[in-house]
Amino acid sequence: PAVHAGTIAPAEVATIAHRGASAYAPENTLAAVRWGVEMKADLVEVDVQQTKDGQLVVVHDTTLARTTDVAQKFPDRAPWRIADFTLVEIRTLDAGSWFDPRFAGEPVPTLAEVLDVLERSRSGLLLEAKEPARYPGVAERIADELARWPWWVQPDPAERRLVVQSFDWAFIRHLHGLLPQVRVGVLGAPTLDQLAEVATYSNQVNPHFSATTAEYVAAVHRHGMRTNPYTVDDPATMRTLLDRGVDGIITNRPDVLHAEIHST
Ligand code: G3P
Ligand code: CA
Repeated sequence: PAVHAGTIAPAEVATIAHRGASAYAPENTLAAVRWGVEMKADLVEVDVQQTKDGQLVVVHDTTLARTTDVAQKFPDRAPWRIADFTLVEIRTLDAGSWFDPRFAGEPVPTLAEVLDVLERSRSGLLLEAKEPARYPGVAERIADELARWPWWVQPDPAERRLVVQSFDWAFIRHLHGLLPQVRVGVLGAPTLDQLAEVATYSNQVNPHFSATTAEYVAAVHRHGMRTNPYTVDDPATMRTLLDRGVDGIITNRPDVLHAEIHST
């Protein structure tokens, strides 16, 4: 079903903490989510994938190698794909020490834990389904998990409570069919010719910041969608994008973005 029509109401630019406030704490951990809340992010972005036993966990890469001590704990299990490990196994891993010894013992969170932390905060969630085509049934699992949390799935015209995004546009279209009241976004940059079709199921277009020209922002808005480019940490680029009329910016440094938004 179509999700909206006409123009959208202007709102203050959204500050979106990328993988949590991941300049300050290990990405995609509860510590990084809490830093995002602390830094007053409107939305905290995390990456969601599925374990061997069908549990939803928060990790960026499709393997556990870069951000955990899996190679030490399970030396015979290379290449350490998330899809090859159970949740019980993943929960034995340390997802904090690679970033800084102060975060030793920080676990890989489940989606449910992230929802629980954010539900008791003033920040919403930008949930990225990472490579969903690898994970049969993941759309239904995400929809079932979200439906367990009535607060999360209430209709949200401001797009500050929950948005589900993915580089896999077919997944987003499917999820929109499962949970039509939940706002969704496509990652990447549809061509100007593709925007009308994308707008039949998506509320947002979230491209790499280099694609976000003033003309592109205007075209996304003409199709009734919002746009939140990723991933921008330096104030000068933030200012350029704000002047082009973006609706939000995805950043590892939400404190820097807040300062830039309020500098004029
Ligand atoms: O939210 C957008 C951004 O997270 C997409 O890139 O690789 O950091 O997941 P990536
Ligand atoms: Ca992401």
